[in-house]
Amino acid sequence: MDLDLSCYVAGIKLNSPIMNASGVCCTTVKQIEELDESQFLSAIVTKSCTMTPREGNPKPRYYGTSSFSINSMGLANMSLKYYLKVAETFSKSKPVFLSLAGLSAEENVAMVKNVAASEQHASGVELNLSCPNVPNKPQIAYDFEAMGDILNRVFEVDLGNMPLGVKLPPYFDPVHFHQSADVLRNYPKLRWVTCINSIGNGLYIDPITEETVIHPKKGLGGLGGSFVKPTALANVKMFRELLPEQVDIIGCGGVLRGMDIFEHILCGASAVQVGTYLQENGIDGIPRLYHEFKDVMILKEYHTLDDFRGRLKTSPTIMNNKNDPAS
Ligand code: SIN
Repeated sequence: MDLDLSCYVAGIKLNSPIMNASGVCCTTVKQIEELDESQFLSAIVTKSCTMTPREGNPKPRYYGTSSFSINSMGLANMSLKYYLKVAETFSKSKPVFLSLAGLSAEENVAMVKNVAASEQHASGVELNLSCPNVPNKPQIAYDFEAMGDILNRVFEVDLGNMPLGVKLPPYFDPVHFHQSADVLRNYPKLRWVTCINSIGNGLYIDPITEETVIHPKKGLGGLGGSFVKPTALANVKMFRELLPEQVDIIGCGGVLRGMDIFEHILCGASAVQVGTYLQENGIDGIPRLYHEFKDVMILKEYHTLDDFRGRLKTSPTIMNNKNDPAS
């Protein structure tokens, strides 16, 4: 059977819909080399960076299992300059998306200007408006005015042909989907949104030791893994409906199996990012994900991602009311 797993994000052709989520296996050159070597990962997303290097939050700041993670890294990163060099080195073999997470509007604008002044090695910029882990810094994309202010200033910078997307936090209320989309629609140059960053400020405890499993922010951290998938899918679906077609949606959240990739694309994602699963299984886990996804397509007799992207049916045809609490 003829299968084509390629897809496009911001007009860039990717040979598979799988890339890493920012923050996972992408902080150091050594980690990025591994991402680069995987033929199943079609692009590299760098660790969300600031202008200067950051140590991040005190350890332990990550805890994970095969299906769940909580983190409060606090934007530990090697600086924009470092990742610009990464882009220069690795964009020769695959697209590199630079993730930027300035701690203020000014820092974000200054970083975007630096990227614009660089020799355009990166394939695109993913502006992270949703980090939940820096003490006393709110998640920008929950403040729609602040988000608009940053985007006004960022889109004034001439990035040439380099596309820019944003990484959003999860929204939970339909009003917030609409308010966020209303802001984002003001920027015709916006090329993608990544839905979702971790579900911020969850708490995971070890009942044996009676302790939080991570240290910063009294144990509060961003949640990832299987149970964030329904929230991620809802965000992908809603933003696909609310944003113009030229804005791609990158699905992120709960991608642990090939079927999860399928579901994200069914909800409208152009590609997916993998976080917890990649962190827990390393690069060696990626071929399994890729082959499982391929098998789903074969089973369903789909040839390309366009055959099912965004084609989620919302009126179930099978009457299955046996679990209806009121029946
Ligand atoms: C972190 O560095 O704390 C994670 C970044 C993010 O969730 O955006």
